Amino acid sequence: THCAISDLLAGKYAVGETVTLKGWVRTVRSNPNFAFLNVNDGSCFDPIQAVIDNTLANYEEITKLTVACSVEVTGELVESQGKGQKFEIQAQTVNIVGLVEDPDTYPMAAKRHTVEHMREYAHLRPRTNMFGAVARVRNCLSQAIHRFFHESGYVWVATPIITASDTEGAGEMFRVSTLDMNNLPRLENGEVDYNEDFFGKEAFLTVSGQLNGETYCSALSKIYTFGPTFRAENSNTSRHLAEFWMVEPEIAFADLADVAQVAEDMLKYVFKAVLEERMDDLQFFDLRVQKGVVERLQKLANAEFVRMDYTDAIDILQKSGKKFEFPVEWGVDLSSEHERYLAEEHVGAPIILQNYPKDIKAFYMRMNEDGKTVAAMDVLAPGIGEIIGGSQREERIDVLDTRMKEMGLDPVDYGWYRDLRRYGSVPHGGFGLGFERLVAYVTGMGNVRDVIPFPRTPKSATF
Ligand code: 4AD
Ligand code: MG
Repeated sequence: THCAISDLLAGKYAVGETVTLKGWVRTVRSNPNFAFLNVNDGSCFDPIQAVIDNTLANYEEITKLTVACSVEVTGELVESQGKGQKFEIQAQTVNIVGLVEDPDTYPMAAKRHTVEHMREYAHLRPRTNMFGAVARVRNCLSQAIHRFFHESGYVWVATPIITASDTEGAGEMFRVSTLDMNNLPRLENGEVDYNEDFFGKEAFLTVSGQLNGETYCSALSKIYTFGPTFRAENSNTSRHLAEFWMVEPEIAFADLADVAQVAEDMLKYVFKAVLEERMDDLQFFDLRVQKGVVERLQKLANAEFVRMDYTDAIDILQKSGKKFEFPVEWGVDLSSEHERYLAEEHVGAPIILQNYPKDIKAFYMRMNEDGKTVAAMDVLAPGIGEIIGGSQREERIDVLDTRMKEMGLDPVDYGWYRDLRRYGSVPHGGFGLGFERLVAYVTGMGNVRDVIPFPRTPKSATF
């Protein structure tokens, strides 16, 4: 067996013990007497140094190793003489497992690359410091999210990826079909005959698991989903993906204030977790990606998030004296420049914006007393804008039906959704956290394409 570098550095092995580690070469330095091999296995940020005596039979070959060669090193764990690391390995054997064919053309050679360059090598970029750190932080955040909900009594529900409903009503769904696009079956009126399709009707990739989530919350009280969602949004921005992961809790017997509180508690919980578990990676982001990410997380893990009404936000934006690309007036959907002004310049921390105009929000949001706004909430974070969108849901069937008709939806298509309001309806609500936006926020990475292993964006679905 061999040991993970994370365990070695955490002191789980005693000095003097013989250990084996397996990993990939980061750097090689040598003089006639010794070679120093830095080896990383991805279990943590830091590599470990192996010291190699020129008496080893394959010493010459070892000194010729290059970045990314794979090796197996066995030796004694010793306290490090040099500064920086506590331990190193005094090698007894070094097995060379895999060489790099042509070190001069190896695309991830040890120099700094731009993130754009690395995107072209999605299969090799996890080997870099940056993408290794992103992968570990992303993992830490997902585990923490599951832990948060598990500890708070939520049931994780699997909602379907293939669906017929456009939850957000934005018409941004990818079609799922087995029809031959070059020879579509037609009805007499010329329309495509979806009776002939696999599901006997039109089907799409889901944009959100919410509506399905509501059904389980109406029986199990507190549930959440965590899975991929899809949007055929043709927006080439640093915060949009065509395939992204969403976390969607849904809570029975809850109003908007309850939902906002869960969002705040969840975010603080995961900020704390990443500070506790991944300080090695966070320090890298702080140093090389965005100054201040660690301090920001430390502050936020204990801060109280500001809550603000949409109507007040419009007022603040109008009085800001800022020249926005899109002018603001009551009723408009906020664009990212507005969101960022509020979070970055006005408050300087995440804010929870509430009670949006009904006309810019989805059909399922609960109508407020004023008849103009709905019980919606978004969490806006500095640097990225909206990371969470949620609401209290309309639990009154008559109001729901009116809303659906207003928005051109046929209540008949939503029979199952209406049933939840007909049989023991309860006030309830939830939210959706855009997981990549959270990872981008926590790491300071500027683009969501660099916090998901294989980004899917317009005109790009390689790998
Ligand atoms: O605000 P959205 O559209 O809300 C919903 O889908 C609700 N059904 C959620 C719910 O209440 N259960 O999306 C939720 C979040 C956004 O705040 C954003 O963080 C993220 O999903 N998001 C995207 N992330 C990456 N790429 C995209 N194209 C995204 N679209 C939304
Ligand atoms: Mg939204």
